[in-house]
Amino acid sequence: MFTIAVIGASGLLGRALVRELGTRAGWRVVPTAHRRVQGEMAALDVRDAAAVASFVDRLRPDAIVIAAAERRPDVCERDPIAARALNVDAVRAIASAARQCGAWVLSISTDYVFDGSAPPYRIDDRPAPLNAYGLSKLDGERALAQSTELGCVLRLPLLYGPVLDWAESAVTSLAPAVVASQAPGASPAPMDAWATRYPTYTPDVAYVIRGMLELHAKGQAVCGIAQWSGDEPMTKFEIASRIARALAIDARLEPQTTSGEGTPRPRDCHLDSSRLEALGIGRRTPFDVAIAEVLSTWPTPAPSLR
Ligand SMILES: NC(=O)c1ccc[n+]([C@@H]2O[C@H](COP(=O)([O-])OP(=O)(O)OC[C@H]3O[C@@H](n4cnc5c(N)ncnc54)[C@H](OP(=O)(O)O)[C@@H]3O)[C@@H](O)[C@H]2O)c1
Repeated sequence: MFTIAVIGASGLLGRALVRELGTRAGWRVVPTAHRRVQGEMAALDVRDAAAVASFVDRLRPDAIVIAAAERRPDVCERDPIAARALNVDAVRAIASAARQCGAWVLSISTDYVFDGSAPPYRIDDRPAPLNAYGLSKLDGERALAQSTELGCVLRLPLLYGPVLDWAESAVTSLAPAVVASQAPGASPAPMDAWATRYPTYTPDVAYVIRGMLELHAKGQAVCGIAQWSGDEPMTKFEIASRIARALAIDARLEPQTTSGEGTPRPRDCHLDSSRLEALGIGRRTPFDVAIAEVLSTWPTPAPSLR
């Protein structure tokens, strides 16, 4: 049996992973969570290095996928030490434990390791994060590389997919404001039209990771850095317009063409996906198809962990 530990299985990406990998005959998926432990999930606080070592030593998995992280840029900016405990130190602890038992580790990173000034970004382009989140994820990439030779970083851009709460993804979090803007007397909803994003569907990412795991199972593990991205560029204004169309709403949206205040964010971090494409790995569900599926339960998101 090929055993895969999915760390952070209760999150947006982790749930999609468990759903995708769990369908493969001959694979055993062991999900872990921290605050939202449900069903077959093991409880694991990845900040506890001893607990991580003991979990990995008992399970002796063939592969570990790390989807646990602090991924909210504003939270990382406010408390960079707490962010680093998850995004750097925990990656190091998991990768060190994995090395002891020869497991391949896939650690999820972000397009925010780049400054967004010169897209598209290839895997060997120089990272230059603009905020504490991007910096912590970059240091997490380095921690992985220092801890094991059998490791791979997978950088991803803005994610969306089946959510438990519309606020869970920065794509679906626009939906309530889009809907509210159509109310009589409501002000137009301001939407960022400055930064270009490449929204990427979590079931597609899970399919990509399944492809990477298949290669590892054949003894051809992808190591180093890989990137995967959707290929439809859009600003949040454009995303909101498409959400309005999917919900058949006559929304009133106001484009914001400056970068705005607060946590600095990159303008366009389009990730080059050619390394995985050359390996025959990939799937891209058109945005309009995927967002219609995600919003099909509006106004109630999926009621349970899926
Ligand atoms: N979301 C995006 O748009 C986006 C974009 C690019 C890259 N990424 C990257 O993709 C990965 C997955 O992100 P996501 O959106 O799925 O994140 P998420 O929905 O916020 O999920 C975070 C996961 O981390 C777990 N976690 C938090 N603290 C933990 C701890 N102390 N010990 C163990 N587990 C802990 C959570 O478990 P509990 O909830 O059970 O506590 C949850 O399963 C991250 O590496 C993120 O940086 C995300």
